[in-house]
Amino acid sequence: MTAPAGTGVPEKNPVVIAVPKETIVGEQRVATVPEVVQKLVKAGHAVRIEHDAGTAAFYPDALYTAAGATVVAGRHELFYGADIVLFVQPPTVDVVAELPEGTIAVGFMNPTRNLDAISRMRDRKITAFALELVPRITRAQSMDALSSQATAGGYVAAVLGANNCPKFLPMLTTAAGTIRPATVLILGAGVAGLMAIATAKRLGALVEAYDVRRAAGEQVRSLGAKFIELEINAEGQGGYARELTAEEKVMEQEMVSAAVARADIVITTAAIPGRKAPVLVTKETVAKMKPGAVIIDMAAETGGNCELTEAGKTVHIHGVTIIGPSNLPARVPFHASQMLAKNLQAFLGLLFTKEGALVTEYADEILKASMLVHAGTVTYQPAADLLKGGKA
Ligand SMILES: NC(=O)c1ccc[n+]([C@@H]2O[C@H](COP(=O)([O-])OP(=O)(O)OC[C@H]3O[C@@H](n4cnc5c(N)ncnc54)[C@H](O)[C@@H]3O)[C@@H](O)[C@H]2O)c1
Repeated sequence: MTAPAGTGVPEKNPVVIAVPKETIVGEQRVATVPEVVQKLVKAGHAVRIEHDAGTAAFYPDALYTAAGATVVAGRHELFYGADIVLFVQPPTVDVVAELPEGTIAVGFMNPTRNLDAISRMRDRKITAFALELVPRITRAQSMDALSSQATAGGYVAAVLGANNCPKFLPMLTTAAGTIRPATVLILGAGVAGLMAIATAKRLGALVEAYDVRRAAGEQVRSLGAKFIELEINAEGQGGYARELTAEEKVMEQEMVSAAVARADIVITTAAIPGRKAPVLVTKETVAKMKPGAVIIDMAAETGGNCELTEAGKTVHIHGVTIIGPSNLPARVPFHASQMLAKNLQAFLGLLFTKEGALVTEYADEILKASMLVHAGTVTYQPAADLLKGGKA
């Protein structure tokens, strides 16, 4: 906000927040929505949006303009003089090359895999914060984009399962006879799994779920689903699962096999941070499934929970449909963008002083934990180690 001339108040330039149109094929989400723009502008910041950035999520340019943003034609104009750039997908090497030196970038960064772009950000002295690294502490809940997007993904997975299933999900008593409810099995009851359970329950299915963390049992039961108990409890650090021993893996696959064989829809969400997804459904298990059964493998992009999953594809084996979807949250872009935009708005709150200027030190524990690159250094150690190994 600029103070009126002659008031004696020093002039202050607004912080410029820029939001590009996403460039990855199939990405329909956008990093901010008009409702959030309105709040940022009211707080004295300037918001710039690239033309059509929100169109695929059904937020047309006119809504951003009405909310107080400036819509610009291309990335050059968008980035010129920008202080902060918000992303959904990690910026590519090409996009990083266009960012002015010293810009702050916030979004998903894929911190251990997007190494070329990370080294480029280091060289251009970008300060990058990765949403994946936001600690899962109570104070950071409003910024937890992994959870908001997993919620969107879990919902879509259940709907996709229903859509590909040749059966009704609910029990029906009709003049043409009684229809038994379909059985939906959810493997992995984290954020996405719990949302898939809740959605399948609302569609009327019989829902069973399993997770290696025994603590997940209570949450599963509170949603009205049956929790499959195993002799394993693999609660690891920070509430995440640890990798199972070879013996435990065999035991798990055997136990899971019976539940998979009786299910009409199997939704798998099992993940271990920083590792390949565990195989829970072997090809032998798929052979035991009913014809017409469907597997939605939400772990497809990290190796798959089913041995026969092909990432980004749908395959049909023994009458079983195995779907390895990519980027499920992008299939509900309106609400996924809304949730992500609110997470980003909460995160931005850490970057401003009470007066609305940019902080000069990143002392907050959430900022420290989520910082990936700063002032020419890759500050996130696992990424720095990988880059050192690759000598980039
Ligand atoms: N702010 C917070 O406190 C907060 C926010 C979100 C999540 N969490 C917690 O973080 C944890 C992880 O959640 P997430 O959704 O990010 O998990 P995730 O995406 O890392 O994994 C999904 C699920 O797969 C399970 N899993 C891993 N290996 C498995 C195996 N071999 N067999 C069966 N299941 C397996 C995990 O236990 C997890 O529940 C949960 O305890 C969740 O409640 C806390």
